[in-house]
Amino acid sequence: MTLQAEPLPFADQPVLITGASAGIGFACAQTLARAGARHLILTARNSERLAAAKERLLAEADLQVDTLVCDHSQRADLDALLTQLDTLGWPGALIANVGVNPVHEYGPKKLHSLSFEQIQAAVTTNITHTVYLLAAVLKAMRVQRSGRIVLVGSQGWRHGIPGQALYNLGKSSLVGLKNSVVSEYGGNNVFCHLLNPGLVLNERTERLRQKNPQLAEQKGVTEMDIALAAQRLLCVGDLAGNGQEMDI
Ligand SMILES: NC(=O)c1ccc[n+]([C@@H]2O[C@H](COP(=O)([O-])OP(=O)(O)OC[C@H]3O[C@@H](n4cnc5c(N)ncnc54)[C@H](OP(=O)(O)O)[C@@H]3O)[C@@H](O)[C@H]2O)c1
Repeated sequence: MTLQAEPLPFADQPVLITGASAGIGFACAQTLARAGARHLILTARNSERLAAAKERLLAEADLQVDTLVCDHSQRADLDALLTQLDTLGWPGALIANVGVNPVHEYGPKKLHSLSFEQIQAAVTTNITHTVYLLAAVLKAMRVQRSGRIVLVGSQGWRHGIPGQALYNLGKSSLVGLKNSVVSEYGGNNVFCHLLNPGLVLNERTERLRQKNPQLAEQKGVTEMDIALAAQRLLCVGDLAGNGQEMDI
């Protein structure tokens, strides 16, 4: 049986995917739509890209797609998102995919040259707001006594990629976060896994690959490889398989 043919155990519940108008998030939306998810809730900042993503999904599958403009760096946007979930329905599955890497904004920066504002901005989006959203979703999953969560991490922090300390910090924190979800909510039938992509050959990394010959030579995976892995993790239903850390 192919992965796409596997029935999704959460197909009837809303699935929230953050940062889903493009890249890995959109690939996850496409994969789950093809696999039979009936209601996707997608967030991103740019409303036009979100609308285009929705159109592409609806052209392929029969499902409900709600797109919510939300900048995950902004507390007010997150609060608005939580209010909208009250109306749309709380997700039975979550792919927490938003993660900013300041290297794309201002290039590599060693720790000694980081400003307070730069530290605060990256920590706020990648850690504080990830935990804030997760906490709200867990509140609902705890009551429903079921939930499936995939946190999108990265492999790079293990090597302490120079010039990317804030990204390394944010991604490494997801290990502890995932373990806490499992120990605190596993008993409520909530599953949480960490999916660590290596180099993904996509738009986000193209500029970096062009600038860095070593990176350009590295083998990478596709967004669809990551999305299929996320689907597989979301389908884990065996308590002994909770809390996986998957490198891809
Ligand atoms: N690409 C890689 O090689 C790689 C490797 C390891 C891990 N990852 C991780 O995978 C995740 C996705 O990466 P990607 O390569 O798919 O990135 P991407 O291609 O740049 O896509 C990012 C998506 O997130 C949205 N987004 C970005 N910032 C946002 C914000 N502040 N609030 C809400 N939405 C936001 C973007 O739409 P808008 O711009 O409209 O908001 C877009 O839909 C990230 O957590 C990244 O760290 C990527």
